[in-house]
Amino acid sequence: VSAVLQDGLGRRIDYLRISVTDRCDFRCVYCMAEEMTFLPRDQVLSLEEIERLARLFVSQGVRKIRLTGGEPLVRRGIVDLCQRLSAIPGLDELVMTTNGSQLVKLAQPLADAGLKRLNISLDSLDADKFAAITRTGQLQQVLDGIAAAQQAGFERIKLNVVALRGRNADEVPALVDFALQRGLDISFIEEMPLGDVGRSRAETLVTSAELREQIGQRYGLIDSAESSGGPARYVRIEGFPQSRIGFISPHSNNFCASCNRVRLTAEGRLLLCLGHENALDMRALVRDNPDDEPVLDALQRALYLKPERHEFDPEEVTLVRFMNATGG
Ligand code: GTP
Ligand code: 5AD
Ligand code: SF4
Repeated sequence: VSAVLQDGLGRRIDYLRISVTDRCDFRCVYCMAEEMTFLPRDQVLSLEEIERLARLFVSQGVRKIRLTGGEPLVRRGIVDLCQRLSAIPGLDELVMTTNGSQLVKLAQPLADAGLKRLNISLDSLDADKFAAITRTGQLQQVLDGIAAAQQAGFERIKLNVVALRGRNADEVPALVDFALQRGLDISFIEEMPLGDVGRSRAETLVTSAELREQIGQRYGLIDSAESSGGPARYVRIEGFPQSRIGFISPHSNNFCASCNRVRLTAEGRLLLCLGHENALDMRALVRDNPDDEPVLDALQRALYLKPERHEFDPEEVTLVRFMNATGG
């Protein structure tokens, strides 16, 4: 029998998200404040520490690892890390969430390094709106990156959209068309109140229900029971069998009962839930213990502290921690 990780409520944890850096070349308005300070290098897990922790989690039954950031592709040595992680026996899938800015040069090396799937943020198809949302991003660079990723032969590519009222909510039909024409998946995410970004998120919140309705006016929607083991609910669209349309609805759909995941932040804190501060300092554990035994022991005990569910209030900043330090 192979090892399993289980929390205090009997949920099996087989999916780990690893934030490899809190840094990013974009400053998306829902993720960061205009002025951010980033972690000093010695507080960030080294690539060797990440690999050691990844092996340890896989030995305990983790089957899927998603690399996130900040922007994972601004971390030096990332392709090499992918190569090392994808070779870990027992790991079924190594995947990544990226803003796409570096994919023109990195898509092929990443595919060659064994990365299976990519999620790419794309909030707008209008160059000015895209620049306003990301503050420092350029649309064309990301569009070229998406094309490069399609050429590189990934198993699946999913676009992520955080719809904001008054900014890009009106572009939802155009974004769906973009995905359908290219055979890509696309997910719409309700904005979560992580970090003080200097405005109320309630004013710009667009619910999944509203978007579904909007998309349904244009296309025939087919409900789908399929799941990636994650929080998204999917529909398919008549006539476009390749694409799935996902809705991630932390406000309107409580998916916590089937949560299968934990997250390792860039500084090595194991967050048991996106919406709570309960965490285990794995950086201290790996730096203090050349031996894996005490690390595993602490991990098993920490899992019992995984909260039952998140409670987000769009009116308030529930957590001071920003998304870029968390990895989404
Ligand atoms: P899968 O690995 O296929 O499940 O992809 P994903 O959609 O979970 O990953 P991605 O990195 O693309 O995240 C998309 C959005 O979903 C981000 O805004 C995440 O913060 C959010 N998300 C992912 N997992 C959770 C979760 O457990 N709880 C909440 N509240 N949001 C989540
Ligand atoms: N709420 C919801 N999604 C967010 N993301 C970043 N910040 C937030 C937030 N506050 C999304 C990005 C990216 C994914 C990793 O997280 O759009 O696709
Ligand atoms: Fe960077 Fe992603 Fe945050 Fe945008 S959402 S600032 S691309 S980490």
